[in-house]
Amino acid sequence: MTLDKLKEIPADAILGLMTAFRADPSSQKIDLTVGVYRDDQGNTPVMRAVAAAEDRLRQVEGTKSYMSPLGVDGFRTGIRKMVLGPLDQSLSSRTAVIQAPGGCGALRVAAEMYLRTRTGETVYLSDPTWGNHRGLMGAAGLALEFYPYYHPGSHELERGRMLEALNKIPPQTLIVLQASSHNPTGEDPDAETWQSILDIVEERKLMPLFDLAYQGLGDGLDEDVAAVRAAAERLPEVFVAVSCSKNFGLYRERTGALLAIGADASQRHVLESQAANVARGIYSMAPAHGPLIVDGIFSDENLTAMWRDELEEMRGRINGLRSRFAAALVSVNSDLDTRWLAEQRGMFSLLGLSEQQVDTLREEQHIYMVRDSRINIAGLDDDNIPVVAEAVAPLMN
Ligand code: LMR
Repeated sequence: MTLDKLKEIPADAILGLMTAFRADPSSQKIDLTVGVYRDDQGNTPVMRAVAAAEDRLRQVEGTKSYMSPLGVDGFRTGIRKMVLGPLDQSLSSRTAVIQAPGGCGALRVAAEMYLRTRTGETVYLSDPTWGNHRGLMGAAGLALEFYPYYHPGSHELERGRMLEALNKIPPQTLIVLQASSHNPTGEDPDAETWQSILDIVEERKLMPLFDLAYQGLGDGLDEDVAAVRAAAERLPEVFVAVSCSKNFGLYRERTGALLAIGADASQRHVLESQAANVARGIYSMAPAHGPLIVDGIFSDENLTAMWRDELEEMRGRINGLRSRFAAALVSVNSDLDTRWLAEQRGMFSLLGLSEQQVDTLREEQHIYMVRDSRINIAGLDDDNIPVVAEAVAPLMN
């Protein structure tokens, strides 16, 4: 017997809770677990621009035959422009782009490309970070190290300790930097802190890998990539793993891309050949349905405008919920100062509860959140805000 050597593994920390929530028969249940956008009715709708592009695609797509290993050209160019903005003109010749199965696929390709350089075998992640960063990076064969990032008690960035730790990372080490809307904390470095981070990355010749999963859902399409652009402008080499799951709502289509900016234009083909070769050895090539939809949006001015408007609406809803939830907590417990919650950005914040408190909330009140007390802000709405505030405000400090 061979397969009987395998032991059952506990469900994924985030996806397991999503499953548990679906199985809970309670009509009172509230889902603040997995990071998907929800509207006022609690639905995760297909974006209007996506539906329109998909309808058109259906009419014109005459084949499902293989595409080029690097992916849909219009998607690759569109994503590069979305990320680089005004820098695209000067950087496009240095920027390799490969379509990937979601941001996860892009992270994995970057990790493997880094290992092929033989300059290091370790990746630095923020503490805390998105739960699956460990699994993804570890599965690629990288050793994991962490830099201090966030203080749960004060709900603030640990700026000093973080910079001190970054200053000790061995040269040429891979470091994952979340571009904006940090998962799970919602706390991003300010512009000055980003400058200090990039100073260190430059001085110590670290290999930055930006994880860009929420462009447009924090402060705006351009604002959310300010750090990526600052890095691309001054550093010789940068990886950016882009996800279209959230900002195009293409979660299940597994749509993303890896940008690899090399030192000069001659590197681009090398990087593209390496990325395609890594992909070929893992999943051969990325799915094209999502990228063809995104290409359909980028290549039509009206659909682009529609998508931007929808994204703005989503961002406005999330930021509005932040303020309303912060106020609701104070109305239950006037000792609380919840300004941090209103000021943080993106889909997530950590409430600062213990795992035991989180378990009790789930078991007794059917309020579901990740065990580190991360909540999906978009899972809140005007009906459940008072219920959640009533339950959690007495536990917070
Ligand atoms: C999350 O953090 O909830 C999302 O990025 C979904 C996932 O795959 O974990």
